Amino acid sequence: MAEHDAPDLEQFNINVAHPARMYDYYLGGKTHFAADREAADSVLEILPEGRDMAIANRAFLGRAVRFLVAEGITQFLDIGTGIPSPGSTSEVVHRINADARVVYVDNDPIVVAHARALLRDGGPVKVVHGDLRDPEGLLAVPEVASVLDWSRPVAVLLVAVLHFIRDEEQPERIVETLKGAVPSGSYLAISHGTQDFSPGRATAAVHGYDQATAPFVLRSRSQVQRFFGGLDMVEPGLVPLPFWRPNGDIEGDPSKIWLYAGVGRKP
Ligand SMILES: C[S@@+](CC[C@H](N)C(=O)[O-])C[C@H]1O[C@@H](n2cnc3c(N)ncnc32)[C@H](O)[C@@H]1O
Repeated sequence: MAEHDAPDLEQFNINVAHPARMYDYYLGGKTHFAADREAADSVLEILPEGRDMAIANRAFLGRAVRFLVAEGITQFLDIGTGIPSPGSTSEVVHRINADARVVYVDNDPIVVAHARALLRDGGPVKVVHGDLRDPEGLLAVPEVASVLDWSRPVAVLLVAVLHFIRDEEQPERIVETLKGAVPSGSYLAISHGTQDFSPGRATAAVHGYDQATAPFVLRSRSQVQRFFGGLDMVEPGLVPLPFWRPNGDIEGDPSKIWLYAGVGRKP
C-alpha cells in the first residue's frame, strides 16, 4: 500500500497537541485529547473569540464551496480537511451536484481515519493521507490523479491550513506548485490567520500552538495576498473573512474574526 494511503496510527501521539483536534475542540466536536484541550484552552484564555473564529472559518468554507459549484466547478482538492463536522466540503458540494468529485488530504492520521469512515470515501470522494509541505508528492498520489481529471478546472481549497506552514517551509513555493498543476479556469480558496487586527493579542494567543505538531504562523494581508499571485481575484478580493460574500447579515462581531479570506481564478 502506498505510504500516502496508509496513515500510520502507531505514530499517532495523543500527548502532543494537533491543530486538527484543537480546531475540533473549538468547534464543539468530540475528537480531541487532553494535550489538545490544554493547548486550545491556553489559546482561548487569551482569545476567547477563538471559538467564533473557528465557526466563522467553517462558514466561509461553505460559502466558498457553494460559490465554486455555482461557477461550474465539479472537482475539489481540499487540503487540510479537518476532522469531519457538519458542513464538510463534500456534504456542501453533493447537496448541489451529486457527481462532483472531492479529494480530501490531511497529514493527521486521525483526521484521515475519521474522514474515511464519515465522508463516504470511495466513488467521487477520496481521502488521502498526505502533506501540504510536499505538494509534488501529494499531486503524484495515484488516488489524487485517478479521482480528479487534470484537464478540467479544479478548485484547490487551502482553508485554515497555510498558517500551519512555516516560512522556512516555503509556503509560496508550495502554493505556486499547486497553481501550476491545475488548468486555466481553476480556482484557489484561502483563509489565513492574521495579526493585523490586534498584533499583541494575536501573537500571544498563537503561542498555544508552540508545542503542537505545527506552530501557528500569523501573516499580514500583503503576505496572504502574495499566495494569489497570477490569479484574478473574485469579488470582493482578499478581505477580513466575515466580509467574503456574506449570506445576508454578518453574524457576530467581524472585528473579532482575525482571518483573511479570498478566492482567485487562474486565467
Ligand atoms: C484548522 S483545520 C481546518 C479544517 C478545514 N479546512 C476547515 O477550514 O474547516 C487545519 C487542518 O489542516 C491540517 N494540516 C495542518 N498541517 C498540514 C499539512 N502540512 N498537510 C496537510 N494537512 C495539514 C490539520 O491536520 C487540520 O486538519
